[in-house]
Amino acid sequence: MKDSRICNAKDFLSALIEKGILVDPKTFEAIKQLFETKKDIASLVANSICDGECKEISSAIIYQKIKFFQARNEKITIKKTAKKTRKDYDAQLTVRKNSEQRGKKDISLFRDYFVSRYDKIKKILMNHLDLNNLVSISNLSFSIRRNTDISIIAIVKEIIEAKTGTILLDVEDKTGFVRVFVKEPDLCKNVITDEVIGISGSYFSGGIIAKKIVFPEIPIPDGINKIDEPLKAVFISDIHLGSKEYIKSIEEKFLKWINKDKQTEDVKYLFIAGDNVDGVGIYPSQKDDLEIENIYDQYSEFEKLIEKIPEEIEIAICPGNHDAVTQFEPQDALDEIYVPNLMNYSNVHLVKNPEYIYLHNNDDADGMKVLMYHGYSFTSIIDVIPELRKRGLSNPEYIMKEVLRKRHLAPLYGSSLINPLKEDLLVIDEIPDIFQTGDLHSHCLKNYKGITLISSSTFQGQTSFMDRVGHIANPGKASIVDLNTRDIFIKNFMQ
Ligand SMILES: [Fe+2]
Repeated sequence: MKDSRICNAKDFLSALIEKGILVDPKTFEAIKQLFETKKDIASLVANSICDGECKEISSAIIYQKIKFFQARNEKITIKKTAKKTRKDYDAQLTVRKNSEQRGKKDISLFRDYFVSRYDKIKKILMNHLDLNNLVSISNLSFSIRRNTDISIIAIVKEIIEAKTGTILLDVEDKTGFVRVFVKEPDLCKNVITDEVIGISGSYFSGGIIAKKIVFPEIPIPDGINKIDEPLKAVFISDIHLGSKEYIKSIEEKFLKWINKDKQTEDVKYLFIAGDNVDGVGIYPSQKDDLEIENIYDQYSEFEKLIEKIPEEIEIAICPGNHDAVTQFEPQDALDEIYVPNLMNYSNVHLVKNPEYIYLHNNDDADGMKVLMYHGYSFTSIIDVIPELRKRGLSNPEYIMKEVLRKRHLAPLYGSSLINPLKEDLLVIDEIPDIFQTGDLHSHCLKNYKGITLISSSTFQGQTSFMDRVGHIANPGKASIVDLNTRDIFIKNFMQ
């Protein structure tokens, strides 16, 4: 856009004189500067002033006009720039490196496993302000005087309700065992066995009278982590391919949406949190519920679904309890024997369950952390916490908050099968930005202390097995997180 009627300082001055407008020395200098340093807009400024109604001129008017045309040019430049798409941004997805310490499952490994849990959570609790005068349990009887206020960090062995209403917690650390008397039951209302807690109270020869029970918890965040690039992530799980209750229309709508919808143009990451197929022999008489009875055929259908997702989307897939991998947690990633084709795709990342995944974490930026966990332990934990029993299965955010407070994905022994590695990898030792789970076939997209909580819905309708375990299907919802703004959205494929 050029206006060349006045194209130098001399012509501009002549035009002003013709209009009877006087030019003072400061304005003269501004006009000179205009044509020397702002050549791209000088003519536009001059013509705009001469064509206008103004009866006088000043350096201020010149600068005002320069500002106006510079801003307009910037807008024009922005319009001309093509919108960047996800193809223009490199994928930056890395998986946490854990040393492999698998060994023979003997009793000594279980001891190491629980010592690792204790040490990791103790480290978190030691910073807690409510735990003053921390001592080891073995030191209580030797060096602590009666009625002294002390704190301990211990693992809960047993919870007993006395006839008086007092709750007795039998707890231990690496040095010994002690009984804790909780006279106000509310203090320990969500405490469960096998979790590591802090206890502050007063010591006497028979044990400790608790004044406070401290969970390791998630601290109040300093800020919210985001990535610099305008990209989104989508979260789904519990696809259950092969089930008679598989809802094909969800798959069709999902694929259309992820391939062609405006809302997904900037989706760069897709997370699938387990139960990718319905599996075989997962529960008694499952055969009656299967549309596809062969496990290889189920995974073949799953591969076909994944292959229809745009290749510029990075896909992280962990297993669930219906997948054909070990049921001991941490579960291994899906095996080549079942998904040979997926091994050839560089955008597909087969990860363990649970797993930490880092996005856009590089030398210049911390990026974001996603914690994926299928969630098999949740049903059992919900069952032992009275507050969660009524509403926990259909409102997954409650159990998700609870395990975050306990800083462990399966604190209750037996809530999931344990793979006793030397390190307990189910401890939530890093605070995630996004915590994704599945298994309950319910859905939530909430926030807890800066962490986006996602329970990922399902592609499967209600089954007789779900009736038996008390799960109520809330199918067909994808959760979307804008990684640049942390805005959240739900796409409902059942509508
Ligand atoms: Fe499932």
